[in-house]
Amino acid sequence: MYYPDSIIEEVRHGNDIVDVIGSYVKLTKRGSNHQGLCPFHNEKTPSFSVNRQRQIFKCFGCGKSGNVITFVMEYENMDFQDAVKLLADRAGVSLPKAETQTEEARRRASLRESLFGLYKTAAIYYHKTLRSDRGAEGYEYLKGRSLSNETIVKFGLGYSPKANSELYGILKEKGFSDEVIKESELFRYDERNGARDKFWNRVMFPIMDINGRVIAFGGRVMGDGIPKYLNSNETKIFEKSKNLYAMNIARRTRRDCFLLCEGYMDVIALHQAGFDNAVASLGTSLTSQQAGLLSRYSKSVIITYDSDGAGVKAALRAIPILKNVGITVKVLKMTPYKDPDEFIKALGQEEYQKRIDEAQPAFYFELDCMESAYDMGNPEEKTKFFNELAVKMLEFPDELERTNYCEAAAKRYGIPYGEFRKLVNKKALTKETSTWTNEPEPSVFRQEQKKNIKLSLDRNLFEAEKMILTWGMEEKKYSDVIAACLTEEDFQEGVPRKAAGGVFKQIDSEGKIDPAPLISLFEDTEEQSVASDLFQDENWNRIKDSKVRDRAFSDAMKRILENSNKRRMNEASQRGDNNTVMECIKAKKQISEQVKKILNRLAGE
Ligand code: UTP
Ligand code: MN
Repeated sequence: MYYPDSIIEEVRHGNDIVDVIGSYVKLTKRGSNHQGLCPFHNEKTPSFSVNRQRQIFKCFGCGKSGNVITFVMEYENMDFQDAVKLLADRAGVSLPKAETQTEEARRRASLRESLFGLYKTAAIYYHKTLRSDRGAEGYEYLKGRSLSNETIVKFGLGYSPKANSELYGILKEKGFSDEVIKESELFRYDERNGARDKFWNRVMFPIMDINGRVIAFGGRVMGDGIPKYLNSNETKIFEKSKNLYAMNIARRTRRDCFLLCEGYMDVIALHQAGFDNAVASLGTSLTSQQAGLLSRYSKSVIITYDSDGAGVKAALRAIPILKNVGITVKVLKMTPYKDPDEFIKALGQEEYQKRIDEAQPAFYFELDCMESAYDMGNPEEKTKFFNELAVKMLEFPDELERTNYCEAAAKRYGIPYGEFRKLVNKKALTKETSTWTNEPEPSVFRQEQKKNIKLSLDRNLFEAEKMILTWGMEEKKYSDVIAACLTEEDFQEGVPRKAAGGVFKQIDSEGKIDPAPLISLFEDTEEQSVASDLFQDENWNRIKDSKVRDRAFSDAMKRILENSNKRRMNEASQRGDNNTVMECIKAKKQISEQVKKILNRLAGE
C-alpha cells in the first residue's frame, strides 16, 4: 500500500459516505438506508443503497458495492491512490509524501505520463503540419467550413499528411520507447513496413481531458470518405465514456448551463460564435459518467442534438441519464437546420441564443415525442396514449414530484386531474413498465468485468462466509462464536481470507466488526466489491426468528469448518504429512459435535 492504513482510515472518517455519494447522486432516506438511482448502470427505480452507520453502499441491480473509496474510484475512474488523495483534499487531511510508492505504481504512473507526452508531441506535430505547405489541403478544408485562425489554434486542429510514418520517426527521435508507442494506438504494425500511421490524410481534432491534456484524436476525411470520423482507440489515458469534447474549456464558462452537442464541428462552431459552454460526447451516446462529470459543474443542460430522427432518439436516451444525476434538462429546437454548425452558419448567433431561451423542458419534449406516435383524432389511439402517459408518470418515484407532473400532464391534455391520477395509481399498483422507452445504456459494470474474482471463489462456501460475517457484524453473540471457533485460515483463500484476517483483529481490539475499513484492505474495486458483499448478506433481513437464525448460522459454521478441514487434509497428504492427516480425520468426526455446542451456546443454554 502506498499510504499507511491509519492515514487511509483518517481520510475515510473525514468523508461520510452519505455526504460524498449524495454530492454525485440524489439520495432519499428510506428507513436506515439512503436510496437512489445507481450511477453505475441505467435504471428507473432505485436499487442503489447507502448505509451511513456501516459506511458502505451496494447496488442490488448491478451488484457494485464497497466503501466511500470504492465509490470514488468507480465514479471518477481513479486508482486507489488518487481516490484517497481526492478524499483527503475534501476532508482537509494532509497526506504523507510518496516515497513509499510501490514499483508497480511507479511503472503505471510513468507509462501514463509518457503517453501524455506522446499525445502532446503528436498534437503539436499535426498542428504544425496543418500550418505548413503540406497541410494546405487540410487548412483549406477547415477554412471552407468557416473556421477562423483563432479557432483553429484554440482547438489545436491539425492535419495528418499523406507521408507515411513521419510521426513515428519523430517519436523515436524524442526517445519514446517502443512499448509506449505501441500503447498509444496511433500506429498499425505490419511485417513488411513496420509501424504505419492510423490517421492518414485527415484533419485532426485533438481530444483533451478536463485538464487540457491531449488524450486522443478524431480525424475527419476531407470529403465523403468512410468513416467520416476516425477516432483513436482507448488507451491507458483515454476512456471514451468518461470524457467530453471541449469540457476543458466549457468547465470555465460563465453561462449557467452546458450545451450538449453530437459532434466535434458543432462544438467548435458554437464556441466560435461565443457559446463557450458547448460540449459533446465522443462519437458514442451519452454515458452516466459523462453526465456525472457535467453535474459537477452545472445542474442544467440543454441538449442540442441533430434535428433528425437519430438526434431525437439520442436525446430521448440522454434525458434520463442526465436526470439521474440531478441535472435539469431542456431540449433545443434546431429546425429547419440539421445541427448547430449549420444553424449558426445560416442564422447566426443571436437566433441561436433565442432558441436557447425557448428551449423546452425535457419532460414536454418527451411527451411531444410520445404523442407523435399516436393519432390523437382517433379515440382508441388517444386512450392508448393516455395509458402510456400514466405509465410514464411512474418514472417519478418521489410522491410530490409525481403529483406535480401529473397535474402538468393532465392540464396539457385536458384530462380531469382526479381521473388521470386514478389511472396513474392503478398503473403503479400493477407496476406496468413503459413500452415506450429507449434501450437502456449497457451496464458499464458488465462490460468492464474483466477478472471476475467471484468466479474463482467457491460459491457455496462464499455464501456461508458471507452469512457468518454479516451476522457477526450485526450481533455480538455471533461474532463471539466466530472468534472462539474459527481462525483466518478457515476462510477460503483470496478476498474472504484477507477480510477475515481484518475481522479477527477488529474483534480482538474493538470487540466488534466494522466493514468499511476492511474494504480498504483491497486496492482493486472488484476485490472491494467482493469484500463489501461479505457484510451484506440479505438473509439477515429475511430471517427474523432467532431460532431459525441460530440454526442457519451454525449450518454455515459447519460448512466452513468442514471445508477448511478438508483443505488442510489435502494439503497435508500432498506433503506426505501423515500426522496432520490423522488429526484431520479425527477432527472431521468432531465437527458435528462442535456445531451442536455452537447451537446450544447461541440459544443461551
Ligand atoms: P455527424 O455525422 O452528425 O457529423 O456525427 P457532424 O458532427 O455533423 O460532422 P460534420 O459537420 O459532417 O463534419 C456526429 C459525431 O459523431 C461522431 C463524431 O464525434 C461526430 O462529431 N462520428 C460520426 C464518429 O465518431 N464517426 C463517424 O464516422 C461519424
Ligand atoms: Mn455537421
